[in-house]
Amino acid sequence: MARVDSIECPLVRAATVGIPATGEHLLGDAGPVGVESIDVGTPVGDDYAPLPLRLDGATVVVAGGTGFLGAHVVAELEHAGATVAGIGRAHYDLRRRDEIRRMLDDTRPDAVVHLAATVGGIGANQAEPGRFFYENATIGIELLEACRVVGIEKVCVAGTVCSYPRDTPVPFREADLWAGYPEETNAPYGLAKKMLLVQAHAYREQFGLNTVYLLPVNLYGPGDNFDLETSHVIPAMIRRFVQARDEGLGKVELWGDGSATREFLYVDDAARAFRLALEHYDGAEPVNVGSGSEISIRDLAHTVADVTGYGGEITWDVSRPNGQPRRRLDTTRAHELFGFAATTTLESGLRRTCDWYQQERATA
Ligand SMILES: NC(=O)c1ccc[n+]([C@@H]2O[C@H](COP(=O)([O-])OP(=O)(O)OC[C@H]3O[C@@H](n4cnc5c(N)ncnc54)[C@H](OP(=O)(O)O)[C@@H]3O)[C@@H](O)[C@H]2O)c1
Repeated sequence: MARVDSIECPLVRAATVGIPATGEHLLGDAGPVGVESIDVGTPVGDDYAPLPLRLDGATVVVAGGTGFLGAHVVAELEHAGATVAGIGRAHYDLRRRDEIRRMLDDTRPDAVVHLAATVGGIGANQAEPGRFFYENATIGIELLEACRVVGIEKVCVAGTVCSYPRDTPVPFREADLWAGYPEETNAPYGLAKKMLLVQAHAYREQFGLNTVYLLPVNLYGPGDNFDLETSHVIPAMIRRFVQARDEGLGKVELWGDGSATREFLYVDDAARAFRLALEHYDGAEPVNVGSGSEISIRDLAHTVADVTGYGGEITWDVSRPNGQPRRRLDTTRAHELFGFAATTTLESGLRRTCDWYQQERATA
């Protein structure tokens, strides 16, 4: 397929930036928090622009706030002074329109962070592509529609690096997002989430719903999912190496041939990016959120082995898929628009994650 340098959705070019006027605010007497608009291209850097959304005193719903990233986002927003409702399936089934409306009526938020999703590694995506498509599309579409109907001031949506085309030139730039079909193993998930970007553009254009859309790279950290059936690569490696170390196994076999590369972002850095975007960014353009560094799965395996103290052999099951060949994001836009830069090195993040996992295991 020919390389397409830059494809923009027409709605992005036409989008306006500013305050939605989409209906009565749910907070009633408390009223909406102060919202000002900034130009899409306003560089923020370290000298932040005036806050479009002041979190101190605001009420924020984090849909998916009981999950891995969500728990860290809830803590980050609470630290910034917000009253936060972290929502999971035990509270409301967000696939259902009536449940979403009930959630918004009960919580009456100024802002909504949308992290609720059905997620998993390559195996889980391959096993249940239909569920990954349906649940991610339905939750997102219905949630954004409800936010429009009730007039939420600001919505921040988590997209995913899995939305990028399989052969995106490295580093992935936001302008290349529409330049091809994603890697097949996670395309239903990635495309379901990418449709929320189309919805966000359309709703900004037609209804003025102020939605920002972030594209986080692969995350890791304390609280991650360590279930081998559904986990991502880092928790899976940590769990298997720790087990091999403790049981004195001489060999651990991993999927693929180890040549694929990935970028990883420590979850606390990701949570800070969501907080900064909520506070400082009001634009239609999607924004990559990553660390900007790339490592092969083979090198990652050796680093995780070091961190866990596993000294045995690592072998590769080449009959298993590698997934997308390379992944690294261009993270310039996040820095320019809302001053985000990752600060946690991979090695120190891995140590903290491994320590957390071992403590959890010890107390389980
Ligand atoms: N983890 C990554 O590496 C990564 C990378 C890029 C983007 N992202 C995106 O970041 C977001 C969070 O990912 P995560 O890894 O934190 O996932 P996670 O730990 O699996 O959390 C998913 C959250 O969604 C909630 N949820 C799922 N279905 C729901 C439903 N029908 N009704 C209500 N809540 C529902 C879960 O609630 P309960 O479990 O409490 O029921 C949980 O709070 C997702 O949008 C994901 O696409 C993640």
